[in-house]
Amino acid sequence: MPARPLIAAGELRRRVRELALDLDATYPDGVVVVAVLKGSLIFLADLVRCLEVAVEVDFLAISTFAPDSGRVRLVKDLDTDVAGRHVVLVEDIVDTGLTLGFLLNELRRREPASLEVCALLDKSARRILPTPLRFVGFETPDAFVLGYGLDFAGRYRNLDRIVTGDLDVLTRDPDAYVGQLYGPESG
Ligand code: IMP
Repeated sequence: MPARPLIAAGELRRRVRELALDLDATYPDGVVVVAVLKGSLIFLADLVRCLEVAVEVDFLAISTFAPDSGRVRLVKDLDTDVAGRHVVLVEDIVDTGLTLGFLLNELRRREPASLEVCALLDKSARRILPTPLRFVGFETPDAFVLGYGLDFAGRYRNLDRIVTGDLDVLTRDPDAYVGQLYGPESG
């Protein structure tokens, strides 16, 4: 089964600008944006370039013990002291919500003045741990998505759009969609 287009580059640009306007209006005195490596990399870069309020960026990195287990650990902590600051956690996609639950607990312990989530994609059909998402780019179907930061085995992050892929196909060959998505006929 080929990869199928889900969200075009232009739609991503438009929605990211809208999210930035919402953040500007919510945090007139500035905000600390905490991004989770590596999936939120492209979204973060586009989002912060659209912001007009003062913004500081910091990163967290986690490693997962087993998929869907919710068992994750921090492998890179913040450099910023976020106590008393307005913090927005930027995520690529919220699926089961287990990763987000872990990260929010970690951040809450640092006593920020406020803590909200900005997720590009919300795959709410698969949610196990309900978590309020203050800022959401798009609701996504229960399908595996790639591109705009999202990967399979490190591939496809640099696509300028979001597509859906077949996990069986990708598991057999992680490069299965490279020809289709990056070739001269792609787009
Ligand atoms: P959760 O803990 O199930 O919410 O999973 C969140 C993490 O799983 C995301 O931050 C992504 O890194 C990864 N993930 C979940 N769904 C997808 C997908 O469809 N494509 C690529 N990565 C995904």
